[in-house]
Amino acid sequence: MDNIPSSPGKFKMEKGPYFHRRWQHSSFTKFTFWSILFVGIIFFLFFRTPSSFSSDTSRRSLRTYNYGGSAWEKKVRSSARVTSKNGVTVLVTGAAGFVGTHTSIALKQRGDGVLGLDNFNDYYDPSLKRGRQALLEHNGVFIVEGDINDATLLKKLFEVVSFTHVMHLAAQAGVRYAMENPGSYVHSNIAGFVNLLEVCKNVEPQPAIVWASSSSVYGLNTKVPFSEKDKTDQPASLYAATKKAGEEIAHTYNHIYGLSLTGLRFFTVYGPWGRPDMAYFFFTKDILKGNSISIFEAPNHGTVARDFTYIDDIVRGCLGALDTAEKSTGSGGKKRGPAQLRVFNLGNTSPVPVTELVSILERLLKVKAKRNVMKMPRNGDVQFTHANISYAKKEFGYKPTTDLETGLKNFVRWYLNYYSVAATAE
Ligand SMILES: NC(=O)c1ccc[n+]([C@@H]2O[C@H](COP(=O)([O-])OP(=O)(O)OC[C@H]3O[C@@H](n4cnc5c(N)ncnc54)[C@H](O)[C@@H]3O)[C@@H](O)[C@H]2O)c1
Ligand SMILES: *[C@@H]1O[C@H](CO)[C@@H](O)[C@H](O)[C@H]1NC(C)=O
Repeated sequence: MDNIPSSPGKFKMEKGPYFHRRWQHSSFTKFTFWSILFVGIIFFLFFRTPSSFSSDTSRRSLRTYNYGGSAWEKKVRSSARVTSKNGVTVLVTGAAGFVGTHTSIALKQRGDGVLGLDNFNDYYDPSLKRGRQALLEHNGVFIVEGDINDATLLKKLFEVVSFTHVMHLAAQAGVRYAMENPGSYVHSNIAGFVNLLEVCKNVEPQPAIVWASSSSVYGLNTKVPFSEKDKTDQPASLYAATKKAGEEIAHTYNHIYGLSLTGLRFFTVYGPWGRPDMAYFFFTKDILKGNSISIFEAPNHGTVARDFTYIDDIVRGCLGALDTAEKSTGSGGKKRGPAQLRVFNLGNTSPVPVTELVSILERLLKVKAKRNVMKMPRNGDVQFTHANISYAKKEFGYKPTTDLETGLKNFVRWYLNYYSVAATAE
């Protein structure tokens, strides 16, 4: 259990201000139901699997983060310096991640101040995160190495820089891994999110927060396309359940403290510098290696399809959400007026069967895949996703422009170059 990414939850959570008993006396409204369920899960994991929370290695991993000192502060300030006239100052969590890297660069390039935060956990190859970090450094973005559960660090960052916005992308992603390491989802997606919101509600002025939810909250829904107004109460994975919990937690912090909160439900994001745990990425790797790939099909040979969304389109959506985010209304830890609360689908709105994804990769790689078609196991995946994006279009002109073929071409070019694959493929 030693290589579990980031689960030093225990001693932080004991100190957490959100573990009071008040909630037991509150009424069981819909949104508190979810909060209570997940506080329950935290306690369950806390007592049932102490090894995954309190091992010495994970405690150490939180303590060894090195920050402070004037040289460090100088780097932080310089990274967060605004260079355009109406620029904003953004703390990007999960900046060494796939979406975080692209979003940070886009913000920096248009003149915003950007500071990254990431714990560089080893859920997938950390050297890829280091590669992205180098790219960010080249673009003038500094990533502070730390955990979103570290309240002292977060407070320190807000002392050094008065962030106007937080782009919160740090999370434990992936649906299948939740069966292996459920604690990491609770740690980052619930406890970490609450810790971040606690710090944000107390700082003066409060930042506006844009954060990543997920299309997975639509779970087993069958009505397509998925619309923000649809009910989302049948998650198919713990990952989805923690994202749904995040949406309810966002509601609470908006309601009580006046934090401006915008959730973005991303639909299967892909592209250069992408995540090795996602199908388009490991299919590419396996096809090139000559390994067979498992392609899932639904019962009765049903098609499994995804609304694949290219990273540049997602980044435009993130910036659009940030630019239309209103100020938070709280001060002194108290709400002073109604604050903005939004949730947007960010998809491509044209689902593609996974079999078609494989065919495109075969064409681009000029290698035939060894297809192993099998029934989809019940491990968190859903049969299809399809976004209704009219709300994001209306609010900030969101309009994805990249089809899967074009996007994968860019991905494959990056992949072959990054991994120096000596192949004739383009
Ligand atoms: N990529 C997708 O298809 C997709 C789809 C839906 C939602 N999302 C969400 O979008 C966000 C970004 O996803 P991504 O694809 O870039 O994932 P990613 O794993 O590449 O990026 C997340 C980053 O957060 C960091 N992190 C995780 N836990 C942390 C913690 N406790 N403290 C500090 N840093 C931590 C990780 O090291 C990683 O670099 C995530 O919230 C994810 O759940 C992604
Ligand atoms: C998409 O959602 C909007 C509301 O945001 C709704 O008016 C429209 O009918 C939906 N479109 C489809 C095709 O379901």
